[in-house]
Amino acid sequence: MKLTIQQLLDAMWQDYSALTPDADPIHQLFADLNQGVVVNDHIALRTFNLDKVTLDKLARPFLATGYQPIDDYQFPAKKLYARYYQHPDETLPKVFISELKVAELPDHCQQIIHSMVAQVPEQLVEQQTFCYSGRPWQLSKEQYQTLASQSEYASWVAAHGFRPNHFTVSINHLSSHQDIHSLNQLLLDNGYALNTSGGLVKGSPAVLLEQSSTLAKNIDVKFDDGVLSIPGCYYEFALRHPMPDGQLYQGFVAASADKIFESTDARRPAS
Ligand code: NI
Repeated sequence: MKLTIQQLLDAMWQDYSALTPDADPIHQLFADLNQGVVVNDHIALRTFNLDKVTLDKLARPFLATGYQPIDDYQFPAKKLYARYYQHPDETLPKVFISELKVAELPDHCQQIIHSMVAQVPEQLVEQQTFCYSGRPWQLSKEQYQTLASQSEYASWVAAHGFRPNHFTVSINHLSSHQDIHSLNQLLLDNGYALNTSGGLVKGSPAVLLEQSSTLAKNIDVKFDDGVLSIPGCYYEFALRHPMPDGQLYQGFVAASADKIFESTDARRPAS
């Protein structure tokens, strides 16, 4: 049975909110202030650039429902490539998919990742539900920590598998908040921890996009040889500004996304 795009997005939200203790209460906070309506600006997915599980594979179910690739980005310091997809229905979230350039990691990390991806069943990747299917491989605590010492991103995908890394509230669609600073203050006043890497607000009106995000809370994740408390997913907030033609900018800002990626970093300094 094929899911509609709305059913697919709903299922992804269910998976995501189960790993993100802050997600449902923050969603409810904004729903209560906005007649129940909270629109997503984008959702983000993470993967490795190995053939079986590339960005292109994760994008398939979205392309099948009318999404189109729009633009791509490089993040050299984090060894990532990313592309975003947009649907003609502007009420549907953009889909931002990144992939780790595995060959740029040290050999011992590459070996771990290749052994993980070798365990992914081919038929799983073909399924529409692949993008929220979770972790399809064995992983020890030591392998997780080895990856984490070289790439926070690699360790996140290793631990959680294929699932949304974040959802993003569109501030433009909120009647309760027109600026990102008052929104951040509401979140801080309600006790939520925000990512301060690169400042509370990433970007500016000058680059047409302002973003902030919660810090991913630690959750218990089972490994082959026990449980570790590690960062789960985070919730993001985006305010888009008009271009000279009056249309809202719909792209992303690489320098800002580079800092947003750190919202799942267990090694981040305390804030
Ligand atoms: Ni994002």
